[in-house]
Amino acid sequence: MRLLVMYDTYYGNTELVAQAIAKAIEERGHQVECRRQSDSGEEDFMGVPVWVLGSPTRWGRPTFRFRTLILNAVKEAGVDHDFVVFDTRFAKVHAGASDRLHRALTRKGLRALMPPQHFTVEGRRLAAGEEERAREVGRAIASLLRP
Ligand SMILES: Cc1cc2nc3c(=O)[nH]c(=O)nc-3n(C[C@H](O)[C@H](O)[C@H](O)COP(=O)(O)O)c2cc1C
Repeated sequence: MRLLVMYDTYYGNTELVAQAIAKAIEERGHQVECRRQSDSGEEDFMGVPVWVLGSPTRWGRPTFRFRTLILNAVKEAGVDHDFVVFDTRFAKVHAGASDRLHRALTRKGLRALMPPQHFTVEGRRLAAGEEERAREVGRAIASLLRP
C-alpha cells in the first residue's frame, strides 16, 4: 500500500515523530513517502490512498500553512482517502492541532483510520518515550492497511 506522511515543523519535533511513524510503516512492507510541508505541494497527494498528517500545535491549531496545504490537497486529490492526523504540543496546554484537522477532514468525507494522535514536547524537545510511541502508532497504522 502507498502512504504519504506529510508534516510541518519549526524545531524538528514533529519531523522526528513523522519519520518514526514512516519508518515503522515501511518496515511492515508498505511504500511510504515522508515529506515536509515546505518542500511539498498538492501534487504530492495525488494518487496516494493513505495520508498521515502531522503539525505542531500553534495557538490550539495546526499551522496555517499546513492546514492550507491539506485543504488544497483535498480540493485537488478528492476525498477518497484514508487518513490519520497527529500533532505535537505541550503537555499542559489544551486543544491539539490534530483534533481540528481530524474533524475538518471527516466532515469533508475522508475516512479516519484512528482517532487523532498527540505527542508531547517539553521545552523544545520531544518528551522521553514519545519517539517509541510514534513507532507504535506507525505499527498500528500498518496493521490497519491492506497488504
Ligand atoms: C507560538 C507558539 C504557539 C504555541 N501554541 C501551543 C498551543 O496552543 N498548545 C500547545 O499545546 N502547544 C503550543 N505550542 C507548543 C508547540 O506545539 C511546540 O513548540 C511544537 O510541538 C514543536 O513542534 P516542532 O518542533 O515540530 O516545531 C506553541 C508554540 C509556539 C512557539
